[in-house]
Amino acid sequence: MRILVTGSAGFIGFHLAGRLLRDGHDVAGLDNFNDYYSVRLKRDRHALLADGPGASERFRFYEADICDRPALQRAFAEVQPECVVHLAAQPGVRYSITHPYAYQTCNLEGFLSVLESCRHAARKPRLVYASSSSVYGGNTVLPFSEEQAVDHPVSLYAATKKANELMAHVYTHLYGLQTVGLRFFTVYGPWYRPDMAMYLFADAMTKGRAIQVFNHGEMRRDFTYVDDIVDGIVRCVRAETFAPYEIFNIGNNRSERLMDMIGLLAAELGVTPALEFLPMQDGDVPATWANIDKLRAQTGYEPTTPITVGVPKFAAWFREYAAKNRE
Ligand SMILES: NC(=O)c1ccc[n+]([C@@H]2O[C@H](COP(=O)([O-])OP(=O)(O)OC[C@H]3O[C@@H](n4cnc5c(N)ncnc54)[C@H](O)[C@@H]3O)[C@@H](O)[C@H]2O)c1
Repeated sequence: MRILVTGSAGFIGFHLAGRLLRDGHDVAGLDNFNDYYSVRLKRDRHALLADGPGASERFRFYEADICDRPALQRAFAEVQPECVVHLAAQPGVRYSITHPYAYQTCNLEGFLSVLESCRHAARKPRLVYASSSSVYGGNTVLPFSEEQAVDHPVSLYAATKKANELMAHVYTHLYGLQTVGLRFFTVYGPWYRPDMAMYLFADAMTKGRAIQVFNHGEMRRDFTYVDDIVDGIVRCVRAETFAPYEIFNIGNNRSERLMDMIGLLAAELGVTPALEFLPMQDGDVPATWANIDKLRAQTGYEPTTPITVGVPKFAAWFREYAAKNRE
């Protein structure tokens, strides 16, 4: 297949594009290398991808902003994708408290550009796009399932992801665009994002600093290893029987205590962590847990990586790359 991956220099996009190339697909990546976090990390991921297996024959890349409509349309016209996996976004719950307009521009206007490019493509591609577990916001019934109402977001980030699901619905309804929204649950692994808690903890622990633990440690997360997420995305790219408009949870189906993850990580890094317990942060939720029955039933998705296997893999990468390339 010809597949366009937006956000291909990002954490998930890099892993996905690599897997698609190894599977023999023609992949076009697109990214603007913005400086929300280390540009060097994004460039290093991109270099690995561009020099990796299959890339010389089957990978091309567009350095472009999804808000640059002519540039995006040019990429669509050249690639003529059969599927677009749209991962480029302004991520981060906490950053959306301090930088709200970044979310309006990238996650709303940018998402609209992607929808419009799909709509006007000569042959409309399937659009698989990143939503987020954060759309469940203030919901308290666990595990979260797609049948629950998601009308109570508690961060602007979550509101833009919910808006994406609504915008996609309009384009399915009006223009027959096939859309698949994936609600990712706390994805982690090698080549991780430096703004995410597991990375921040590893960074602080290896510098001998106290780690900040919010909600006094009473947090639970459905931590999903990146290879499992990529496997789920690939299943959604290839699925033949989807309805025109789909929304799926994609998680590990286990809600882990944050303190257990911290203990595992500290043991892997060989440190005894100092903990600074703090109250709940604005925009955050105390617990996430994905019901994955729908994706499992429709695609055979089955995550296989518990945190006892995934956290050591992240820690190994952290020691090998991140700790040696701190900015
Ligand atoms: N990682 C997670 O746990 C998680 C959880 C829920 C949802 N998501 C969503 O999954 C997607 C991928 O997340 P990630 O963790 O890989 O994030 P990431 O920040 O590592 O990747 C996003 C990539 O998109 C690029 N990008 C951002 N704005 C752009 C723009 N305007 N034009 C072109 N490129 C742009 C960035 O440079 C980056 O390389 C995002 O949509 C995110 O909101 C991630």
